[in-house]
Amino acid sequence: MKLDWISPADRLSALPPYVFARLDELKARAREQGLDLIDLGMGNPDGPTPQPVVEAAMEALQNPANHGYPPFEGTANFRKAITDWYARRYGVQLDPDGEALPLLGSKEGLTHLSFAYVNPGDVVLVPSPAYPAHFRGPAIAGGDIYPLLLKPENNWLIDLAAIPEEVARRAKILYFNYPSNPTAATAPREFFEDVVAFARQHQILLVHDQAYAELAFDGYQPTSLLEIPGAKEIGVEFHTMSKTYNMAGWRVGFVVGNRHIIQGLRTLKTNLDYGLFSVLQTAAETALQLPDVYLHEVQERYRTRRDFLIRGLGELGWNVPKTLATMYLWVPCPPGIGSTDFALHLLGETGVVVTPGNAFGEGGEGYVRISLIAECDRLGEALRRMKDEGIHYKAWQSG
Ligand SMILES: Cc1ncc(COP(=O)(O)O)c(C=O)c1O
Repeated sequence: MKLDWISPADRLSALPPYVFARLDELKARAREQGLDLIDLGMGNPDGPTPQPVVEAAMEALQNPANHGYPPFEGTANFRKAITDWYARRYGVQLDPDGEALPLLGSKEGLTHLSFAYVNPGDVVLVPSPAYPAHFRGPAIAGGDIYPLLLKPENNWLIDLAAIPEEVARRAKILYFNYPSNPTAATAPREFFEDVVAFARQHQILLVHDQAYAELAFDGYQPTSLLEIPGAKEIGVEFHTMSKTYNMAGWRVGFVVGNRHIIQGLRTLKTNLDYGLFSVLQTAAETALQLPDVYLHEVQERYRTRRDFLIRGLGELGWNVPKTLATMYLWVPCPPGIGSTDFALHLLGETGVVVTPGNAFGEGGEGYVRISLIAECDRLGEALRRMKDEGIHYKAWQSG
């Protein structure tokens, strides 16, 4: 029986079209044809979860005490591990009872935060380009998204001075993310100070997504929002175990910061889910306690790939500046071709999958994002195929 008379709720039609869907379709077709795809599209880390984390999970799994519903607010041990990690990493003191909340992956929390705080018509400030959950969550909640256009000449930082006074006055939430997905931009501490001052002046809830803070190179140390005096009065910061610890499939994240804001999210979540499997919380606790040598290895892996790919793209005419963090390169499309067409062309001609920049909002048009999720031999193969197919930044310009 056809069910086309059952239409989805209006909130679904508020969502911008999903650029990945067409790419996925073409990827599936290419695979069917036996093409050897080099998939640098998603931010899905390619390494295994650290062995001590896997072992902690296996041991926790054997304990029947972990088999029931977990506590809504997360286990006391994981919350303590989170706040200890914050103290160690950033010198920020947090109360594990109320200022830290485990999540079913940070995407879940980022999205649900807007369900907890955005009423239809509320203005939500979101950079463009941005990680899609930052605008799709508020869109589903019925928010009025005001895109903050990021520009290369401003190092992809939000230009607070460009936000009209009237918009700032009406805005309820600002989502932001440095080190950034997709631009790989980093923000100096002064930028965080300016954002906090702006948010306090206009009474805006600040949501900072710190997903890539551990994947930093060349001695660069990303700033936490919560290091800034006064930030905890108006803001929260989201983290994920997915990237740093190769735990994307485990679905563990957490949010820290303002108690009142976290309480709103928690209230919503008690109506939606039963919290995170205790076994996963034990595993995540172990990950946060791993010695720094683990972190250095991960950073070194991505740094090596970054250098390799920037050098190789340079030989094909691209001038990609060195990134100080994240697992991405943000690469301009050759002049005269848009993001989607370039990504599709690359896929069709070489089997190399990258993400069109416009998947991250209109501000990403003209760029593609390349994830550093393959070893250098595969990245080298991708570059070789591009060379063989004449995919060259400047050649494109003239031809
Ligand atoms: C900026 C940013 N935040 C959050 C996430 C989602 O992380 P999680 O796996 O914890 O849901 C991602 C994943 O790509 C991301 O890039």
